[in-house]
Amino acid sequence: MATVAFKTLDQLQPAGKKVLLRADLNVPVNGGQITDATRLLRLLPTIQELAQKGARVIVVSHFDRPKGKRVPEMSLAPIADALGDALGRPVTFADDCIGPVAQAAVDAMQDGDVVVLENTRFHAGEEANDPDLAKSLASLADFYVNDAFSAAHRAHASTEGVARHLPSFAGRLMETELNALNIALENPERPVGAIIGGAKISTKLDLIGNLLEKVQVLIIGGAMANTFLAAQGVKVGRSLQEGEMHDTARAILAKAKEKGCEVILPVDAVTATEFKANVPTRVVGIDAIPDDAMILDVGPQTVRDLCAKIAMLKTLVWNGPLGAFEIAPFDAGTNAVAQEVGRLTQEGRLKSIAGGGDTVSALRHAGVTKDISYISTAGGAFLEWLEGKTLPGIMALESVFERALPI
Ligand code: 3PG
Ligand code: MG
Repeated sequence: MATVAFKTLDQLQPAGKKVLLRADLNVPVNGGQITDATRLLRLLPTIQELAQKGARVIVVSHFDRPKGKRVPEMSLAPIADALGDALGRPVTFADDCIGPVAQAAVDAMQDGDVVVLENTRFHAGEEANDPDLAKSLASLADFYVNDAFSAAHRAHASTEGVARHLPSFAGRLMETELNALNIALENPERPVGAIIGGAKISTKLDLIGNLLEKVQVLIIGGAMANTFLAAQGVKVGRSLQEGEMHDTARAILAKAKEKGCEVILPVDAVTATEFKANVPTRVVGIDAIPDDAMILDVGPQTVRDLCAKIAMLKTLVWNGPLGAFEIAPFDAGTNAVAQEVGRLTQEGRLKSIAGGGDTVSALRHAGVTKDISYISTAGGAFLEWLEGKTLPGIMALESVFERALPI
């Protein structure tokens, strides 16, 4: 999407003021334990800065998908505790994000205090972007700060509607995310490349279409590559692929040619007859996939070719693993390329920007998260950005909404 002019915390004097902070506390939880606290940790600079400047910080967020009802397992109470632990200071929790309960919690605040309000999606008006819910949220505060880039693709009351009623600012995490994405696609050092992996072309059509316009090299991996190969007559055996997408795949390749975008597909593959840990595997050229085998990872020659190609790039956007990295040894191709991307980045030769659920797990698995220039906390929002879509949560921060509507 085009660059949006937004205000940051540099333009906000929050001392003694109530700030409604839209965070994304939608962290992955398994058996009551947070399995990845990245989103909480990335939020700390904004909360700390606001609290240190004497704001009363009212944190709102969704958590999971309760669909407009109170679902006790989707309460933000335990996440509020985890946020308090991460901040190293007490955080109060209020059992509702609007109404008397929320108002009482806000009324009891002192400058520098932090309150977390209950899951906004317990109200049906959140996802419906109900103006009354937006007004009720806005009535709690003097300012709105949105630090939830990862929820900015949702036009919900707490991400979009509320910005119509309060002077609005981007938090530090939002600012960092937008700057990183800007460096990647709007204003990049060329040549720019993208690695796009994952299972299905059908879910990434818009993304590929947008990237063809922006990048000089498009590396396609994952099961998606099988569809492109099969569409060109390569026999892919029992590999996962989308037979009904062959025409589309050929059209994408033709468009890439027309745009001067080089598309790189695997030249060899690691195959097996079963997708299980440590099954016997065979490395074969892409034109020699056995009928009973499945392609489960890119092969060693492909890895060498990709590393050589990436070494010639200045900017790389990465979304989607190259192979079925969840199960060894099919993680080898993704690991090797990730380590090379990390090395080139650390040597100052490459800017690398990665995002999307699986991608972050794959890079963590490869042990390179610290070596990548920027890893987005966003899943869907990162994809929609790569698709060139306008993200409503970001548009709402555009200063045009300064003509704030009355609460
Ligand atoms: C995410 O986890 O991608 C964001 O928090 C948005 O959640 P959603 O997909 O449930 O809207
Ligand atoms: Mg999601």
